[in-house]
Amino acid sequence: MEKSWKTIIEPFRIKTVEPLGFTTEAEREAILREACYNVFAIPADKVLIDFLTDSGTGAMSAEQWAAIMRGDESYAGARSFFVFEKAVRALTGYRYILPVHQGRAAERILMGVTCGPGKTVLSNSHFDTTRANVEASGAAALDLPVPEALDFDVSGLFKGDMDVRALESKVREIGPEHIPMVIMTLTNNSLGGQPVSMRNLREVSQVCRNYRIPLILDVARFAENAFFIKLREPGYASRSAADIAREIFSHAQGCMMSAKKDALVNIGGFLALNDPEWVARCREALILTEGFPTYGGLAGRDLEAMAQGLVEVLDEQYLAYRLRSVEYLGDGLRRLGVPIVEPPGGHAVYINAKKFLPHIPPSGYPGQALVCELYRAAGIRSVEIGSLMFGRRQDGAFVPAPMELVRLAIPRRVYTQSHIDFVIEVFADIARRAPTLRALRLLESPSRLAHFTAKLMPEPV
Ligand code: F0G
Repeated sequence: MEKSWKTIIEPFRIKTVEPLGFTTEAEREAILREACYNVFAIPADKVLIDFLTDSGTGAMSAEQWAAIMRGDESYAGARSFFVFEKAVRALTGYRYILPVHQGRAAERILMGVTCGPGKTVLSNSHFDTTRANVEASGAAALDLPVPEALDFDVSGLFKGDMDVRALESKVREIGPEHIPMVIMTLTNNSLGGQPVSMRNLREVSQVCRNYRIPLILDVARFAENAFFIKLREPGYASRSAADIAREIFSHAQGCMMSAKKDALVNIGGFLALNDPEWVARCREALILTEGFPTYGGLAGRDLEAMAQGLVEVLDEQYLAYRLRSVEYLGDGLRRLGVPIVEPPGGHAVYINAKKFLPHIPPSGYPGQALVCELYRAAGIRSVEIGSLMFGRRQDGAFVPAPMELVRLAIPRRVYTQSHIDFVIEVFADIARRAPTLRALRLLESPSRLAHFTAKLMPEPV
């Protein structure tokens, strides 16, 4: 039998490199001041390790760059579209494939034609833009995660699952005719990048069939979810990630994808559906705002890169490395006693800032205080998912978010183990000084999506 080694290595070698943005502590302090303590306002070349997002920040392969050169830039009927369509159809099994420029465009188009006032969309958890697009149509978005998803300290295998009982009772309460679709987000980004089990998907699918409600998947991170199923769910260990992915798609009637994640590209997305009526209306909306249906707001070369990425992402050497590298960061932080959302997700480690900085109340933005300190100390960029992002400030009253998290999202195929070791070392230093970290005061914020442009300052000592 083939000997198996313990160390999971990066399954690639590097042909093109990009220098990192080294700065001094004094420079970073000035940059933070200038950016009003909002890391979205920091120029990327002043960032050493960028864990702001795993979206569109991955490295493409030599084959993807070769595919870029094969791009057919015809306006209608480009060869690249058919390459792309074939790849998406082979993976998903869905009949109609519409390219879009990124995930939220798919959301806007689908919600625009299927939702509206009086309707409710149910999900294990809507991602922010999904929720915003449901609500922009006039419909309501309701999350039904399993209760353990909200207990950050307790580990679990499939904390991305939907509460099936709650689903049944909500469907009965609301009435299936008012529910245009159920959305399952794979993996569940809003609650820690946790996977959904095949068993849960099957049960949700059954409920949807019983009530004739379409089940639509948000598959931004479908391959990571498929590999978690292989590693964790009984009966799947000997099945290939590609085979598991195909089964995932078979339980639903369509999907929306932000290709910036698991299609390993920097821009792109698609909508894939079986229902000809929905497709006809979506296609119309697509032409109106994105582009002709054979390019959907992208270049032909982008379609080629996506088609290639969708194949590469299911390589099991890649997926083993991907999940291990995120887990490795989680292991390192846990060893230091840094409270993380357990277990680490597929694309990110989430730190529980409420527990890490108990001396800072939610109104002092503990998550953002940690985000700023990570940048100040070592040029690491992360993102707050807490009261700055989701807290409400109405008529002078502050309503905190239910959680104060900091997400360290790891771009695909970009950083190596020594980068992660460095981040862990920085955390060891910050953990020692945690009680001295200062609260922040919000100076200015717009009413919607405040975290992108908010201005803050540290509270005086
Ligand atoms: N669905 C999920 C689960 C996502 O995580 C995202 C984006 C989208 C949809 C929207 O896709 O950005 O291509 O329009 N998530 C990014 C993030 C922004 O940082 O988690 P998009």
